[in-house]
Amino acid sequence: MMSGLTLIRDPLEMQRKAESLRASGRRICVVPTMGALHEGHLSLIRIGRTHADTLITTIFVNPTQFAEGEDFERYPRPLTQDVAHAREAGTDILFLPERDAIYPPSFATSVAVEGLTEVLEGKSRPGHFRGVTTIVTKLFHLTKPHFAVFGQKDAQQVAVIRRMVADLNFDVEIIVGPTVRETDGLAMSSRNAYLSPGERRAAPALFQSLKRAETLIAAGERSHDAIVREMQRHIEQNLAGIIDYLSVADCETLRETAEIAPGQSVLVSLAVRFGRTRLIDNTLIRV
Ligand code: PAJ
Repeated sequence: MMSGLTLIRDPLEMQRKAESLRASGRRICVVPTMGALHEGHLSLIRIGRTHADTLITTIFVNPTQFAEGEDFERYPRPLTQDVAHAREAGTDILFLPERDAIYPPSFATSVAVEGLTEVLEGKSRPGHFRGVTTIVTKLFHLTKPHFAVFGQKDAQQVAVIRRMVADLNFDVEIIVGPTVRETDGLAMSSRNAYLSPGERRAAPALFQSLKRAETLIAAGERSHDAIVREMQRHIEQNLAGIIDYLSVADCETLRETAEIAPGQSVLVSLAVRFGRTRLIDNTLIRV
């Protein structure tokens, strides 16, 4: 267990520290987060530890990836708890920049990945991925990592970041950690805290609908529409929410697949709004 945890708030100090770690030959791994750390985040820190000498966790609730009317203001920020969790999971440096230090008034640059960002989450959340790729670029420049760990929970985010890293020649290896779930299957998310007790009880229907899709595909179903219909039926029977999207898409292009081809890997994913909450989940299926 790591004992010392260094807290850094100043971006320049972070960058100098990262440079000196690199100069002394240490391997750096970064785990970017927006805080409200749960087992999902902590699992990524533990995975990161096995790859690196120095594990940097970043916490920054990034305003540019929230659209107008989304939950930026009420996003949970349990700082004391986060510091303790980050330390226990094996973080060496916790980077906690202030908003104005990351986005000074003169800030005018962004990084955008095209194509992959226009579907699924990108369609429902305009500007979201531009915010993500811009902040991840900045965090990479500030923490100078050899490795960065992201969660499969946000499958499209992983695809977009991989595209950016390849297209812009970032010298960072992207590692993906599996989705961590509650015992009833609900994917862990900082946003689960918004659920009312009734919504929380119904929420595992989302995971179950992904399981239904897996079962159908394992039994030979290849039709997009048949799989989506069954997921929709299961969700509508069990949960009073509004389905944003249900998708069976090629896992690389993220384009909808009318008919799953032999050997194809598909990403089955969903987004559902209920009450004040919008939840997403997915499963990757190799046929
Ligand atoms: P955040 O939602 O805090 O998630 C931080 C990381 O934890 C992401 O890589 C996400 O995929 C992963 N994660 C979340 N829930 C998980 C779960 N149940 N199991 C496994 N991993 C999980 O994603 C972001 O923040 C931001 O977009 C960020 C990349 C930090 C840029 O601002």
